[in-house]
Parts: sequence; structure tokens; C-alpha cells
Amino acid sequence: MTSLVSAVRSQVLGLVARRFNGGAGPYAGLSLLPDKILLPLHRTGLDPVPEMDQRLAEQPVSRMPLPFGMRAWLVAGYEPVRQVLGSVDGYSNDFGKFAGRVGINVAVEPGGLGFADPPVHTRLRKMLTPEFTMRRLARLQPRIEAIVGGRLDAMAQAGGTADLWHDFALPIPALTICELLGVPYADRDYFQKLSTARFDLAEGGGPALDAVGESLDYLGGLIEQQRREPGDGLLGSLIRAHGSDIDDRELAGLADGVLTGGLETSASMLALGALLLMTDESLGARMRAGDGVDRMVEELLRYLTVVQVAFPRVAVRDVRVGDADIRAGDVVICSLSGADRDSPMGVRPHRVDPDRAAARSHMAFGYGIHRCIGAELARMELRTAYPALVRRFPAMRPAVPPAELNFRRASIVFGLDALPVELGE
Ligand code: HEM
Repeated sequence: MTSLVSAVRSQVLGLVARRFNGGAGPYAGLSLLPDKILLPLHRTGLDPVPEMDQRLAEQPVSRMPLPFGMRAWLVAGYEPVRQVLGSVDGYSNDFGKFAGRVGINVAVEPGGLGFADPPVHTRLRKMLTPEFTMRRLARLQPRIEAIVGGRLDAMAQAGGTADLWHDFALPIPALTICELLGVPYADRDYFQKLSTARFDLAEGGGPALDAVGESLDYLGGLIEQQRREPGDGLLGSLIRAHGSDIDDRELAGLADGVLTGGLETSASMLALGALLLMTDESLGARMRAGDGVDRMVEELLRYLTVVQVAFPRVAVRDVRVGDADIRAGDVVICSLSGADRDSPMGVRPHRVDPDRAAARSHMAFGYGIHRCIGAELARMELRTAYPALVRRFPAMRPAVPPAELNFRRASIVFGLDALPVELGE
């Protein structure tokens, strides 16, 4: 299994390197992506860049420059994004279809739910769904509380200052997901690094692809071991229930999607949400009082929309979206962060308003058949961690002015890599 994954990985990386790079130097071509493509990944502070507002007002569906002669569209408005993501048969998420157009062999797609179309997607998602029901997830609630409590104790013990990203935001989902999957606790640091690296396109796509390959290698080893001796976590129960219906590559893709889908995303929400709770006094006070925690969590999900764009879709037939005529074969990028700041989200969408009526209709977890399978687990983490944090450290403040924080420049998952704070104890 490990050798299969290694082979897949080196094939993907090799083909990508050759296609994008002409074989010279590691992935140099990928770092030359035109800046306009990265528009939906850029922010001003916590807000989408002003140009995104202009698109929302004037051109919610617009052409995007893409290399290799591909036609691509940026879909930013709330309604058009719903139309694209809600379509059952208009678009494909299949990496093979997309990659084939830029010269990557279709036999080496990375796998996982996010890149699969029905009926493969339907079959795989059905296997995973029972692991994410409220009843099954409920068993993790005491573990999440213990994990949050453990991190708060460790920070209090160290005293003075902390890096909220490394000491709080990242370990909480990392430990929760390791628990869910059955990944050994000792491997968590390694996984945090891989997961962060795969979403960061600031240095081009090469390091991100390396991280995907390495993560698949690791999971291959774990699957090999659990095939012999299935554990209590999600991997073990998938092997027990469907062992003969799912091959190792599909299993590694599923596990990889769950692991990375649930780690970086929830960590960014925890860090950026904590930043808002520290700097917006009335929001912090309401969270401390436990006054409408669920509603506040939804508004923070909407406002931050950390997964900035959905997986690329490829139109499988000609389709009209808004005023645009999208042709079969065109690539469609949906800006979730743009959609969540559009007018259907109510007045003053660039403000955090815990009483916002439309907040629950946000697109932070996507929409349609690929909507986030881990949404309820993420909510459990956020609803547990935010109030506990602001209660334990009511006077906590950023240790540097917010303007000096190092926000990611062009990452699919928006966030920061360090959040220095004074605990105020
Ligand atoms: C605040 C945290 C999270 C956010 C903002 C988030 C966001 C998203 C979004 C926007 C999508 C849809 C992408 C698309 O349609 O192209 C998605 C899909 C997915 N998410 Fe999450 N997610 C979060 C947490 C989690 C967790 C905790 C898990 C698992 C433990 C998870 C696993 C997945 C998986 C497997 C998919 C693919 C579903 C499919 O294609 O059918 N996510 N997520």
C-alpha cells in the first residue's frame, strides 16, 4: 500500500512539475500564477479585498485569467454561488477531468470526496455519513471539552504570553480529528505541519502538492496496519463495515479529506474568532455570558468564511449563470467569502452582528452535495472552545497591534500562522 501511494505521489508530482515547469527547477512555473487568479484568496484585514465588493455589485459572475488557454469564471455573488454548488449534474469535481486538460494523467487523481462526482461520490459519502451523525459525534463532546480544558490549563501554567495559534487553535481540532479517525496521538505535530502546508499557495503550488503526497504516504501505512487490526476510530469502523468494498487508495483519499478538511479549517476559525472576541468588547462579553453562543458561532462562520473558495468545478454542459454563458469545459471558481458578504446576508455585511437574521444561511460550509460533512463537528468545537477561552482569560489581548499580524496572503484556507497574545492574568 505504501508503495502504491508513493508511486501515485511521485507520478502526480512528476507530471505536474514537467507540465508546469518544463522540467527545470522544482515547480518554478507554479509560483508564477497571475495575481488576478488569486483575487478571491486575498484579503484586506479580515475582509475580502475591495475589488470583490465591486465584483459583487457589478459583475457577480466574471471571467478569470487562467494559464494554458483554459476558460475560467469567478462566481462571487450569493445566488450564483448557490446555483453552481446546488446543481446536481451541471458541473464536475473530478480532478481527472480538470487535470487532464493541463496534461496530468487522469489515472493519478488524488481521490477523496471533494474531487469525486456521483455515483462514486454518492457511494463514498454514504460510507462516511454514519460517522458524522449527531448521535455518533456526541461521544466526542466530552473529549472536546477535555482537550479544550487541557489547552487552557497548559496556557495558564506557562503564564504571561502565548501563541494562540500553536497553543490553542491548532491542537484542538488536531486532537479531535486524531480521536475521530484513530490516528495515533504521537503523530499530531507532523500532521499539523502537512495540513498547513497543503493549503498555502504563497510559494506556488509545489510545496502544497508535496504535503498532499506525504500525507497520503502516512495514511497508507496507517491503513495497512488497521486492515490487520481495525481500531475504534473512523478508519477502523470503515474497514469493519466496508473493508471489501473499498480499496486502499479510496480509503486513503477519504481519510486524507477528513483529516485535512477538519484540521486547518477549524483551527483558522478558532484563531480568527478568538481575535475578534478579544478586540470586539461587546462580542467578547456576550460570549463570556453565554448569550446566544450558537448564533454568534454562525455569524463568525459567515463573517470569516475561512474556506475562501470551493473546490474548482468544471462545467459539463453549457449553462447560464447570472448574465454569463458558461461553456462545457470551463473551470468555475466559487468565492464563498464573497458570497457571504453579499446583500442576501443582510445590511452591513462587513460587520459582525450576532443578531443577524440571515447568518445561518451562510455558505461557509459550502452548499449542495459536497457541503461540509464535518459541519456539526466543527460547530461542536467552536461552541465549546470560544466561551471556555473568554471565560478563562477575560483580559486576554493580542500582544501586537492587529495590523502587524501575519495573515496568509494567498491561502485557500484564510488564516494566520501565529497569534501572539498576552493572557492578562
Ligand atoms: C470551521 C470548520 C470547517 C469549514 C469552514 C469547512 C468548510 C468546508 C467547505 C466550504 C466544504 C465544501 C467545499 C466545496 O463544495 O467545494 C467542505 C467540505 C468538506 N469538509 Fe469541511 N469544513 C470545516 C470542518 C470540517 C471538519 C471538522 C471535517 C471532518 C472532520 C470536514 C470535512 C470535510 C469533507 C470530507 C468535505 C468534502 C465533502 C464532499 O465533497 O462531499 N470539514 N468543508
